Amino acid sequence: MNIYYGKQHIDINDINKVISALKSEKITQGKYVKRFENDLKTKFKSKHCLVVNNGTSALYLSIKSLNLKNSSKIICSTNTFFSSIYTVIMNNLIPDFCDIEDQTYNIDLNKLEDKIKKDRKIKAIIAVDFAGHPCDWESLNFLKKKYKLFLINDNCHAIGASIKGNQGYACKYADLVTQSYHPVKNITTGEGGSILTNNSNLSQKIELLRNHGMKRNDLSKKKFGQWFYEVKDFGFNFRLSDIHSALGISQLNKLKKFVYKRNQIARHYDKSFKNLDCIKTPVVKKGFSHAFHLYPVLIDFKKTKINKKKFFEKMIKVGINLQVHYIPVYRQKFLKNFKFNKKFFPVTEEYYKREVSLPIYFSLKKDKIDYVINQVKRVLKC
Ligand SMILES: Cc1ncc(COP(=O)(O)O)c(C=O)c1O
Repeated sequence: MNIYYGKQHIDINDINKVISALKSEKITQGKYVKRFENDLKTKFKSKHCLVVNNGTSALYLSIKSLNLKNSSKIICSTNTFFSSIYTVIMNNLIPDFCDIEDQTYNIDLNKLEDKIKKDRKIKAIIAVDFAGHPCDWESLNFLKKKYKLFLINDNCHAIGASIKGNQGYACKYADLVTQSYHPVKNITTGEGGSILTNNSNLSQKIELLRNHGMKRNDLSKKKFGQWFYEVKDFGFNFRLSDIHSALGISQLNKLKKFVYKRNQIARHYDKSFKNLDCIKTPVVKKGFSHAFHLYPVLIDFKKTKINKKKFFEKMIKVGINLQVHYIPVYRQKFLKNFKFNKKFFPVTEEYYKREVSLPIYFSLKKDKIDYVINQVKRVLKC
């Protein structure tokens, strides 16, 4: 038996939808791509949506579309997947970091404002709705306007979350919103992602960059011939196929049910660990609903008879593959030239010593969840 921290759930409707895409006239740049984009726009209340081949491409294109001057700075969370950072560097910009707060593990808005005030080179913020708990986007939007910054919501974890009952919160407050549909995420297309925005100008730039920087329009076709196209910029092929999009359409229909089940699993874990003083379970703040892409617990290993490394080894022996989200990004050797000092990120450092992500996904059955709970209790003995 092997239990992972996350995995996809594919049913017969998903399979049938993919088969119909495979049988259709176009298997890329066809009607399923358009339909998936329209469904995403409706679900997340955005004016524009561009699907791409993964969440990293979505971040790369979002950052590029801002046209920031070389060596401008972008502030990122310390607690995120590394692609949020290297996409900044690949755009010839400088990443800088802000510590997290100790309740939701999202970027700390007080520390963020202190940083912004002191540094005129900061032009944008990428904030992550970590584990599926939205950041305080109303306050982030206030900072965006006060300091004239761009705001990107790396929304990969929070697909299906809401603020004050609004599932369209992400585009309401951020200039650009990026999602990933990797199999561990709340819905999947195999690989895939999207950019959602209410800004027509940014959407047009991204559409161009996603497709080799090439533009075709009726006017120039009429003037120069039906084959005519013009290269407007150096772009990429970051398109998503109709096969992937068909799976996305079918998965999006199940998002409500997926997120509901994730919340049920989270509540079951919460209750089971309530009386253990070595485990801190996730907090859901008033006014927010959590999408529970992850279930991060903080374990006080000083109160247990085991360290984090041994804990992982013992859990693997009983078939449970845990994860850590994340190794603080500034600790990566790859960033050594930037000389980030961990003493500026005390909350992240303490969090990293303790964080463990427990398994959470739609098809995780009650007996498996109870098995995980019992094994955690047996091994930690606290
Ligand atoms: C917060 C965050 N940002 C970006 C990404 C990148 O998405 P993808 O794996 O689809 O490239 C991920 C994926 O794990 C993520 O969790």
